[in-house]
Amino acid sequence: MLKSHSCGDLRSTHIGTRVTLAGWIHRRRDHGGVAFIDLRDSTGIVQVVFDPQRTNCSEELMHSLRVEYVVQVEGEVVARPAGTENTRIDTGAIEVVVNDAMVLNDSPTPPFYINEDVEVDENLTLKYRYLYLRRPRVQANLVLRHRMVKGIRDFLDRERFLEVETPILIKSTPEGARDYLVPSRVNPGKFYALPQSPQQLKQILMVAGMERYFQIARCFRDEDLRADRQPEFTQLDLEMSFVDEEDILHLMERMMVELMGIVRPDAVFPQPFPRLSYVDAMTRYGTDKPDMRYGMTIVDIGDIAAATEFGIFRSALQSGGMVRGICVPGCAGYSKHQLNDLISRATTAGAKGLVTLSVADAGNPDDGVKSVLARHVTPDQMKALLARFGASDGDLLLIVADAEQVTCKVLDILRREMATRLKLADPNTFSYTFVLGFPLFDWNAEAQRWDSMHHPFTAPPANDVALLDSDPGRVRGRHYDLVCNGSELGSGSVRIHQRSLQQKVFSMLGYSQDAIEERFGYFLQALEYGAPPHAGIALGIDRMAMILAGQETIREVIAFPKNQNAVDLMMDSPSSVDPAQLEELNLSLKRQRIDRI
Ligand code: AMO
Repeated sequence: MLKSHSCGDLRSTHIGTRVTLAGWIHRRRDHGGVAFIDLRDSTGIVQVVFDPQRTNCSEELMHSLRVEYVVQVEGEVVARPAGTENTRIDTGAIEVVVNDAMVLNDSPTPPFYINEDVEVDENLTLKYRYLYLRRPRVQANLVLRHRMVKGIRDFLDRERFLEVETPILIKSTPEGARDYLVPSRVNPGKFYALPQSPQQLKQILMVAGMERYFQIARCFRDEDLRADRQPEFTQLDLEMSFVDEEDILHLMERMMVELMGIVRPDAVFPQPFPRLSYVDAMTRYGTDKPDMRYGMTIVDIGDIAAATEFGIFRSALQSGGMVRGICVPGCAGYSKHQLNDLISRATTAGAKGLVTLSVADAGNPDDGVKSVLARHVTPDQMKALLARFGASDGDLLLIVADAEQVTCKVLDILRREMATRLKLADPNTFSYTFVLGFPLFDWNAEAQRWDSMHHPFTAPPANDVALLDSDPGRVRGRHYDLVCNGSELGSGSVRIHQRSLQQKVFSMLGYSQDAIEERFGYFLQALEYGAPPHAGIALGIDRMAMILAGQETIREVIAFPKNQNAVDLMMDSPSSVDPAQLEELNLSLKRQRIDRI
């Protein structure tokens, strides 16, 4: 070892000990000819002191030291002089007086600060990832992620789960995204698909008698990227035989409670995890992944709106739409400019408009409110409306009259936006909630067909099977989600385990018999051979780590993420390939586009 101790481990108990440390120069301050250097390694930071009176180092070496140089120092741990202790770091009671030092490697000035967690152009943090990863906060994110995954493995091992790896080069798995394809050299013209999830394979492991499987599995999805989506990501993928939804939900709750104790013992969360039906989630929050840390729930005023003369309300209702809104506390003073900003957010999200209503005096519905609505409703109607919202003086009502889907989407966006502005979400609270009672299918109006709400392997309750032919829209799915703080952490279901029912669901989703055979023949065959009843779930590891680490994007908890265009800026990938490689794969490009970044 080039070091006897690690920087972050030194404490007062080491006073008088001679130590050798190795690490990066985090920060340098010069004071009265003495250089105070914060030395950083993966365990933390310690102050080392180059004092010309007490060191054998040459002046030349002392002067040459710059941030991010890699150095080895040898010296003695001493107590910091009284009054100079630093209570913000664990090593703040001591410092190391350097006797000797050696530069192990130098470094150009980094393109951004490592010793200050200031915002930088994200592209730079991706290109120079090895420098960004040196930031203590980012390292702490990876430590949290490691401890979280270790906690998962330890918990599931105790629960008698077996970790089984499944292949990466497989056949298409329908999870709603496009596949990443890999051409096969030895089978010209044929392609593997990278798994969107190990869904069918884990079900086949149940047929194979594993009973309790899990995997920390890499998944690949070619879809539009967002703050909580990457083209490749990690799932805790899990499946159990001879269980129903309650077994999976209880298992997940126990696991999450244990993980919270390991990585966020300081946090507050409800226990048992509350449950919410899909319909309630949509009507009260406008989304199936609500942030339950704050109220501002959606209020339906359809009945009141129907009795008014307000054309916007009436026409929305006449065309089968909804009139709903939220009551934002304390924002009645919003300026015209601020209100216009909210209106444009609503229209960008697809609404035809947004009715705003500022409540100055809730007890005086005549003059106490400011809104276009005031001219179109009677004082009694206004009174009823304010009462429905529970509006008080100073509140701002935001009302959308539109098709149900649009109303939900827009009010969800506005609810989140206003909560962020008003800092309503306590960062130390984790609002774990199970959402249940999803429909099995979702009508895809554009393609004029049913899509799976979750995926095609989700079972309907036995009582609903008869509805598959008569009223598919009413069939429920035995599907459950775990949501937390406005994110979907995980999703799972009780599965179909009979070939005939599985085949029926595939054909309802529009697959021809040939396509079913070609894509899923092997899977249907496996179901024939005594497939046990089974159920499972997958939790997004990146999203869990993001939420537990209090980060805004999953890129902060992934060592080497891709940017919004699915590009790895450090490796410059994807990139062009040698024509000889294409030749070998029997591929030719129609049009060659070389994107330089
Ligand atoms: P689902 O598609 O809902 O279910 O995925 C499960 C969880 O994986 C995470 N996730 C993602 N994380 C980052 N980037 C992405 N692109 C991404 N896509 C999904 C989310 C999500 O809740 N096979 C089923 C599970 C099952 O039924 O057992 C599945 O994959 O946190």
